[in-house]
Amino acid sequence: MVTVALIVACFVSLACAQFHVARNLRLHERRDDVPDGFSSKGPSPADTVLRLRLALAQTNITGLQNVLLDVSTPGSAQYGQHLSKDEVYEFAKPTAEASAAVNSWLSENGLSATPLSPAGDWLGFETTVAQANALFDAEFSTFVHDESGQEAVRTLAYSIPATLKGHLDLVHPTVTFPNPRRVALPIVSTPVSIVSGNTTIDATAPASCNSAVTPACIQELYGIPTTLATQSSNQLAVSGFIDQFANSADLTSFLKQFRPDLQSSTTFKLQTLDGGSNSQTPSNAGVEADLDVQYTIGVASGVPTTFISVGNNFQDGDLEGFLDIINFLLGETNPPQVLTTSYGQNENTMSRSLANTLCNAFAQLGARGTSILFASGDGGVSGSQSASCTTFEPTFPSGCPFMTSVGATQNVNPEIAASFSSGGFSNYFGAPSYQTAAKSAYLTKVGSTNAGKFNTSGRGFPDVAAIGHDLRVINAGSAVSVDGTSCASPIFASVVSLLNDRLIAAGKSPLGFLNPFLYSAAGSAALNDITSGSNPGCSTNGFAAAAGWDPVTGLGTPNFAKLLTAVGL
Ligand SMILES: *[C@@H]1O[C@H](CO)[C@@H](O)[C@H](O)[C@H]1NC(C)=O
Ligand SMILES: *[C@@H]1O[C@H](CO)[C@@H](O)[C@H](O)[C@H]1NC(C)=O
Ligand SMILES: *[C@@H]1O[C@H](CO)[C@@H](O)[C@H](O)[C@H]1NC(C)=O
Repeated sequence: MVTVALIVACFVSLACAQFHVARNLRLHERRDDVPDGFSSKGPSPADTVLRLRLALAQTNITGLQNVLLDVSTPGSAQYGQHLSKDEVYEFAKPTAEASAAVNSWLSENGLSATPLSPAGDWLGFETTVAQANALFDAEFSTFVHDESGQEAVRTLAYSIPATLKGHLDLVHPTVTFPNPRRVALPIVSTPVSIVSGNTTIDATAPASCNSAVTPACIQELYGIPTTLATQSSNQLAVSGFIDQFANSADLTSFLKQFRPDLQSSTTFKLQTLDGGSNSQTPSNAGVEADLDVQYTIGVASGVPTTFISVGNNFQDGDLEGFLDIINFLLGETNPPQVLTTSYGQNENTMSRSLANTLCNAFAQLGARGTSILFASGDGGVSGSQSASCTTFEPTFPSGCPFMTSVGATQNVNPEIAASFSSGGFSNYFGAPSYQTAAKSAYLTKVGSTNAGKFNTSGRGFPDVAAIGHDLRVINAGSAVSVDGTSCASPIFASVVSLLNDRLIAAGKSPLGFLNPFLYSAAGSAALNDITSGSNPGCSTNGFAAAAGWDPVTGLGTPNFAKLLTAVGL
């Protein structure tokens, strides 16, 4: 176990009651205004307890990012040589200077902090509003989300001592606010819309996809084998948030109807963190969670699948468990080879520094050999959900260059872009090297269309796509039809897991971080290029799908046979 000597004991009780106001405070982060939908109720009571987090400067995060690209780029001498937990730790641990500076500052202020990540670069401590205001020259105030009534204590700006500059990346929660959608709609969730409840299901599910999308249709559409995977070390993980529980009875009836060739007792293993649970009460069955397990277990035939239920006792504040689950998996000796997540939100709900902290955690897990996939969002160019806007809203965390963002398609013959498929360009992260050629080819085609509404220098997303319209799901005993990029991420993740099964059987490394492979000539040629449809929003037609990469369907949808060849099988 990795421990960090940052737990500072309070020896002199007098010292604990006081704190020392640093001179030399330097502004560290600020936001111009209160986010839409929130109002200030004025300064928070001085004795309100705050659970603050500190992100410490890491030893060599640029080196880790470079190593990630080396181990993930086909043809590189290091390709497939994923790092161990200890090797990643050496890059991600705080610098000695950061540990010393933060440690002595905590100690001077009678504070003790606890490491919340395996590398010890993410620390938590408790304080009060009065002390936090003094420590950070902040004005912690109570903000209320008008629609939900949810309250949050935040500050619009804070400073840190000059001695911590370069050593402390951020203090959190401060300038990032909770995601309002977390309460208003079923939350951080990329929404799944129930198109028609109580649908009559044809048990002889059509392979043709004519009346609905089922596993048989997806297998036919993408040439995905129905034979069972063989490798027990291969793991496909599905994350669950916001009290979305995967229901075993729903899974059983789904398999009976749509995968009668699989044992209907096939189920998921469970892991929990942050107080997550596994309610099997039918009324607690979440559509998102049911969709995600049914379209992994039902498509990735025989791949051991784990549902990771993240509770609401977040250690990462407004990241609402997104960082916690990555830290949880970084603590494992053998993390899953694939992780799919169908939740997201708009990028502008996060501070840049917080987005960067999460993105660097993805780089760590990618270096361990995990493919991290997220649904791109369901609001077209207007963000994670349909909304009014004047400039396009990129989604989070799809802007991070160290994960794979999955958009959605609809229809077959031809498969076209789903109009809700979120895509665009990040305002926080620049285009990674693996994407520059694909992105400039697209921007050339776009010309001046939508000029000024998006950031041409940002990382483009999504990277790939899969079908996301009219999927049959069993939820709380009833068949429902579901739309969304939420459908696409588990399907693409299942394809990756089946490729990994064959790679592992052949004594090769799993694919790990996918993008350098996907954007390579061999990778992109193994995807079905989607060239029609668009993702309207913000009173525009959005972006149009086009030959090659586009910010609606990425490089395209999977062709299993071609992918097998492309990965060298
Ligand atoms: C950071 O890591 C890279 C990649 O391993 C290495 O080449 C470089 O020397 C490291 N830099 C420092 C300052 O340790
Ligand atoms: C749902 O299905 C039941 C049984 O077939 C039927 O009686 C009922 O009318 C249906 N409800 C709706 C809203 O279609
Ligand atoms: C555009 O994106 C880049 C990242 O490539 C970022 O540094 C810059 O601040 C963004 N511009 C705006 C106006 O958000």
